[in-house]
Amino acid sequence: MVDILLGLQWGDEGKGKIVDVLAPDYEVVARFQGGPNAGHTLEFNGFKHVLHQIPSGVFRPDCLNIIGNGVVLDPIIFKKEIDGLGKYNLDLKKNLVISKKTAIIIPTHRLLDAAYEKAKGAAKIGSTLKGIGPAYSDKVARQGLRLGDIVSPNFEEKYKSLVEKHTQILDFYQFEYDLAEAEKDFFAAVEFLKEFNLQDTEYVVNQSLKDGQKILAEGAQGSLLDIDFGSYPFVTSSNTTAAGVCSGLGVAPNTIGEVYGIFKAYCTRVGSGPFPTELDNDLGEKIRQEGREFGATTGRPRRTGWLDLPALKYSIMLNGVTKLVMMKVDVLNFLDEINVCTHYRLPDGTVTEQMPFDLTDIEVEPIYTTFKGWKCSLEGMRSFKQIPTELADYVNYLEKTLEVPISFISTGPDREEIILR
Ligand code: GDP
Ligand code: IMO
Ligand code: MG
Repeated sequence: MVDILLGLQWGDEGKGKIVDVLAPDYEVVARFQGGPNAGHTLEFNGFKHVLHQIPSGVFRPDCLNIIGNGVVLDPIIFKKEIDGLGKYNLDLKKNLVISKKTAIIIPTHRLLDAAYEKAKGAAKIGSTLKGIGPAYSDKVARQGLRLGDIVSPNFEEKYKSLVEKHTQILDFYQFEYDLAEAEKDFFAAVEFLKEFNLQDTEYVVNQSLKDGQKILAEGAQGSLLDIDFGSYPFVTSSNTTAAGVCSGLGVAPNTIGEVYGIFKAYCTRVGSGPFPTELDNDLGEKIRQEGREFGATTGRPRRTGWLDLPALKYSIMLNGVTKLVMMKVDVLNFLDEINVCTHYRLPDGTVTEQMPFDLTDIEVEPIYTTFKGWKCSLEGMRSFKQIPTELADYVNYLEKTLEVPISFISTGPDREEIILR
């Protein structure tokens, strides 16, 4: 079976931590979309490590990690990541397999990202500037490079032809750049990549399924950043929802088992775009500080706000979530009262539970229900029986409204700080 774990909000829900927690139950952990825009944080034995392109199963020795065809991979960042993992003595030439069909991010993709954002001015997406949009655009335009191409004798030729297309656009935008250094790093990283296990990973995953193994598909970003269903155009360029697993790994829909949907007990968003429950005030700042809400990839402060149930229900519906994972509950320990948005009031007065098509253009007013805070530390709590009544009330309410069981509650960044229900 392929189980899926993915974010139900705008990313950074804590996917890395939970993949690491669940990984011992799986033979394979696989990334199916996204790329170095992701930053997945794992904490264990006093170590804190952020992964960008490498699946979060790497710290579990018996786990095979796969970078699927749906991913866009930056060789330069890949090399840096592998170097950064050196101190852990992992056997990544054995435990990591990369799809030959994975799209390659080349240095000019990053430049294009920057040029497009600059041209948008105040309307910018707030991209991580890792070249994600331009790399996926080239894939869809049928002119991109794929990892399997790096061993081809005319790889450099293909590369140059693509760069030429990109520089024409950069010149049109009058975007200044110096490619020499980045190209040197790029070709060195491409050589480095040749030492890794490149495969047609759709065969690897399907053989593994035939052998009765369990696969965990690790989502990046969040459902509200999905290219089709997110707050377009303030989204990323891939299908971050469950549907992306089939196309991003080459598995059939009937192989999908559990869908773990992960959400924070509040909301965050990094980058531009609508955020109905945003707290653009002192309380929002306090949550940012308590939750250390600063981007794991870019270091940018994350916008913070109350939990948004219309948005969460939408994500649960799109993904067919079977189990919920509730994160960062400890961050709310300090609050006297906790608000949860249950509905939106539209400018014409209509009250709705649905995500409006024009959310990016209209102001919606969130309608809140208020809960009493628990006002105590959750440290050391490992069972649902130990948690304060106010928190239990909050969790029970969410389960009932969302109609999906909350199977895990996370109370801190460490691997061990988790309550199983
Ligand atoms: P991801 O992109 O979904 O993997 O999430 P990030 O790693 O970008 O952001 C989640 C942040 O929250 C990281 O700094 C984690 O170490 C931290 N974290 C994860 N779970 C918890 C939790 O339950 N409580 C607290 N306080 N921090 C957590
Ligand atoms: P993880 O996997 C949070 C956001 C960016 C921007 C938009 C488009 O760590 O949850 P892109 O670089 O894809 O062109 O950016 O998406 N974004 C993320 N926000 N977590 C992420 O990944 C993100 N990846 C992209 O901030 O708003
Ligand atoms: Mg992140």
